[in-house]
Amino acid sequence: MITIKTPKEFEKMSVAGRCVAAVHDEVRATIRPGVSMRRLDEIAARVIRSHGCVPSFLGYHGYPANICTSPNDVIVHGIPDDYRLREGDIISIDAGAIFDGYHGDAAFTVAVGDVPDEVTRLIDATEEAMWAGIAQVRDGARVGDIGAAVEAVGERFGLGVVREYVGHGIGRQMHEEPQIPNYGKPGTGMRLRTGMAVAIEPMFNLGTWETKVDDDGWTVRTADGSLSAHFEHTVAITPDGVVVTTLGDGATVPVDLSEKAASS
Ligand code: MF3
Ligand code: CO
Repeated sequence: MITIKTPKEFEKMSVAGRCVAAVHDEVRATIRPGVSMRRLDEIAARVIRSHGCVPSFLGYHGYPANICTSPNDVIVHGIPDDYRLREGDIISIDAGAIFDGYHGDAAFTVAVGDVPDEVTRLIDATEEAMWAGIAQVRDGARVGDIGAAVEAVGERFGLGVVREYVGHGIGRQMHEEPQIPNYGKPGTGMRLRTGMAVAIEPMFNLGTWETKVDDDGWTVRTADGSLSAHFEHTVAITPDGVVVTTLGDGATVPVDLSEKAASS
């Protein structure tokens, strides 16, 4: 179902979004060689609760943790465990929070210490693709406009663009319609409208776009073991403009965003 949110509902989504941004800040500040995935999960849980929010992932279809921690070849949905980060790893952190029934959902990827240039490019290209997708979001835009913009960045860098996991509408549920694929054709697909909110979340791989799932039923890896990056923000189309709720300040997207997306 597609839900249309009122400004009051968007305010609640912005509270949830600021909470997710705080989780990102604290977890990012803790990431270093030797830190365990479980420790990052504990920190996230504390931050989420301290904001008066509830962790949306915990118990979602039986998911057993507060955040997803996805190192190296894990694309998404890594379950925090006793793995300790090592110099040269990359790690994706995905976090979601609910405030008074409304959701925020966002992810980032970061390198742990020094990594080869091609790995830095993977991370930077995935973030750039997320912003290129976000720059398409407006009243009247088509879902295919977003996918095409995201996919074009992946193609330009010769990366594997994951197809089996997609972005999504978001509001009272973490996952609402429409699905937002990271590929598509401009001018096709459903039209976005004021009152809608979407999570834009490209996942790019250094190698193949193909995926496989571990026996735990959650952990999604690249089929060829290559490294993977993931970025995500929650984006609201409010009557006053497009707002990235998970940025931290709930700021309206700056006008030069399209330049940011088009650069490099
Ligand atoms: N942030 C993820 C998404 O956008 C959700 C994590 S799945 C969960 O789809 F089960 F861990 F919650
Ligand atoms: Co999401």
